[in-house]
Amino acid sequence: MDLQGKDKVKVGIVGLGDWGEAHLQAFQSVPFAEVVSICDINEERAQSLAEKYGVPRAFQHAEQHNAQPDLDLVSVVTYEKDHLEPVLSALKNGKHVIVEKPVSVLANAARQMEAEAKRQGKMIFPGHVLRFDARYASLHQAIRSGEIGVPISLYLKRSRKKSMFAVYQRTHTVFMSTVHDIDIALWYTGSRVRKVSARGIWTTTAEVPDLLWASLEFENGALAVLESDWLTPDSFHAGVNDAAEVIGDRGILQLNTLANGLYGWSDQKGSLAPDAFIHYALADRYRGALHEQMSYICQCLISGQEPLYVSFADAVHGIEIAEAIERSIASGKEIKLN
Ligand SMILES: NC(=O)c1ccc[n+]([C@@H]2O[C@H](COP(=O)([O-])OP(=O)(O)OC[C@H]3O[C@@H](n4cnc5c(N)ncnc54)[C@H](O)[C@@H]3O)[C@@H](O)[C@H]2O)c1
Repeated sequence: MDLQGKDKVKVGIVGLGDWGEAHLQAFQSVPFAEVVSICDINEERAQSLAEKYGVPRAFQHAEQHNAQPDLDLVSVVTYEKDHLEPVLSALKNGKHVIVEKPVSVLANAARQMEAEAKRQGKMIFPGHVLRFDARYASLHQAIRSGEIGVPISLYLKRSRKKSMFAVYQRTHTVFMSTVHDIDIALWYTGSRVRKVSARGIWTTTAEVPDLLWASLEFENGALAVLESDWLTPDSFHAGVNDAAEVIGDRGILQLNTLANGLYGWSDQKGSLAPDAFIHYALADRYRGALHEQMSYICQCLISGQEPLYVSFADAVHGIEIAEAIERSIASGKEIKLN
């Protein structure tokens, strides 16, 4: 691998919304990463973040950004439907890539990314951060150790605040939200999906449902029910209202993000339960699952070790499943996958 022996991975970030800024903070907290450039179509945003975080170079165009000779890794954090072009241009310029979830909203485009990475001999990592969340990862570890026997039934739920839907209805709920749980289901069962049946509910006039249920049948016989919604009231103290249950033939595992252990009440902020798992600041450094993910990626690149803990093939299959869920909601029919 081209990076072996180097002590730092030179990183560039394309797309600087809230999550792109979180990528920047997470990479800057990894001792063997150096963010050398950032890029946003909004030039002012790129310039102001470069100043704020001391990043040497700011760009407005991804194509120009990705052509820099000294870059090793490009992080693509643009809008959900706009990942393909910056990913392909980074790969064609000989860079490794991490691309945020959903890696695409089209299975064909996701397959194109996978094929281009192979052609260029570069690594491509999907931004499925939950694999690095200690709660989801410990369930996976318990499943792999055989603690609950064979996992035969999964229930995975995600719920976000109502007001967030105003922005995130830009992408179908299955791609925006459910893809996280699809990836977890593939990881936990270690199997592909053969059939999908799904329904949606619209409580607003948006084009996409703000609540959906999907049932998945896996090739190994396991079943999963996934529920995603944007219906947590804004007044609720926690922004993350998720849960998981895995039933095996010899035991059961459960996870509830509301049992966070952190609560606060103040005149200034009301009541809240801050996130201490995904991305949080601790003494000027960022910690949590996002930091773990970036650390892992840089370690893979520097050591040349295959990224076995994450799987772009799973991410591609995840998009095939998401497409099937979208079709099932639209048609009211069960969809078979090839
Ligand atoms: N893993 C997670 O938990 C998680 C959390 C939040 C968001 N995300 C994902 O991260 C991505 C970004 O989400 P966000 O909430 O930050 O979105 P956002 O709308 O806040 O930001 C997107 C940014 O990308 C810029 N942009 C768009 N196209 C561009 C291009 N071609 N070149 C350069 N810049 C471009 C926009 O100007 C904007 O600043 C999405 O795929 C989203 O689903 C993942």
